[in-house]
Amino acid sequence: MQRFADKIVLVTGSGRGIGREMALRFAREGAHVVINFFRNREPAEETAAEVRALGRQALVVRANVGDLDELAGMYRQVEETFGALDVLIHNAASGYNRPAMGQKPRGWEWTMNINARSLLFGAQHAAPLMARRGGGAIVALSSLGSIRVLEEYVVVGTSKAAIEALVRYLGVELAPQGIRVNAVSPGVVRTEALEHFQTFRDEGPDVVSEVEARTPAGRLCTPADVADVVAYLCSDEATMICGQTIIVDGGYSLLAR
Ligand SMILES: NC(=O)c1ccc[n+]([C@@H]2O[C@H](COP(=O)([O-])OP(=O)(O)OC[C@H]3O[C@@H](n4cnc5c(N)ncnc54)[C@H](OP(=O)(O)O)[C@@H]3O)[C@@H](O)[C@H]2O)c1
Repeated sequence: MQRFADKIVLVTGSGRGIGREMALRFAREGAHVVINFFRNREPAEETAAEVRALGRQALVVRANVGDLDELAGMYRQVEETFGALDVLIHNAASGYNRPAMGQKPRGWEWTMNINARSLLFGAQHAAPLMARRGGGAIVALSSLGSIRVLEEYVVVGTSKAAIEALVRYLGVELAPQGIRVNAVSPGVVRTEALEHFQTFRDEGPDVVSEVEARTPAGRLCTPADVADVVAYLCSDEATMICGQTIIVDGGYSLLAR
């Protein structure tokens, strides 16, 4: 399927993990992709090489999305290279995992700026570039920590709740311009991000097996499951979905324990 032929898609944090999978999904469906990284250039260049091998253009941009100047610089590069933008996938995330009583102002600012502030100010840069194409789509990656309590996840969970609220506000404000804004909230996905959790470091893959066993669908969510729903939300079939957060967790969060 070529639902995104010649579209320009920016995926933040797309050298690794779910972001990489989404970048490749859009490229397979015909899009040119902007690959953003922060600390790890090598995997970003590898993702770009795979995009180019599919016959699409890839632009690699190093930018800490939590820094407003670097964020603006990334969009300047998108404009210089492509002149417009069709899709923004707000995927990059970071955070300090600690109990609420152990959090420090620096961790709060770091996390909120990278995860949530960058969506608001990224949208301010993205919308005019999307207007040049007559509209577009923004999809943000949230997580279950926005509505549930995960161990040591207070600051990231709060930043994800802010993302879901931003998606509603941006969805309403940008809909008249033909820009649709939504979020996808996956359950546990096996990526390097799991290593930031103390329980995972202590108990390793056992924790993951436990989540798997408690998931009604019988398995963990994969990066491809997430990419499927994200791509759908950016497609013409999802034209009337505005400001929503779609949970993709095989039913994991529905069960009271
Ligand atoms: N994995 C899960 O179980 C899970 C569950 C629910 C939601 N999610 C969400 O899904 C998204 C992707 O998660 P993941 O598991 O793929 O994460 P990951 O493997 O930890 O990868 C994080 C990505 O974000 C980039 N990044 C981090 N800080 C950045 C910054 N300041 N500026 C730009 N890029 C930055 C990293 O780039 P560098 O490599 O260059 O640092 C990397 O590409 C996140 O929003 C996460 O919260 C994940």
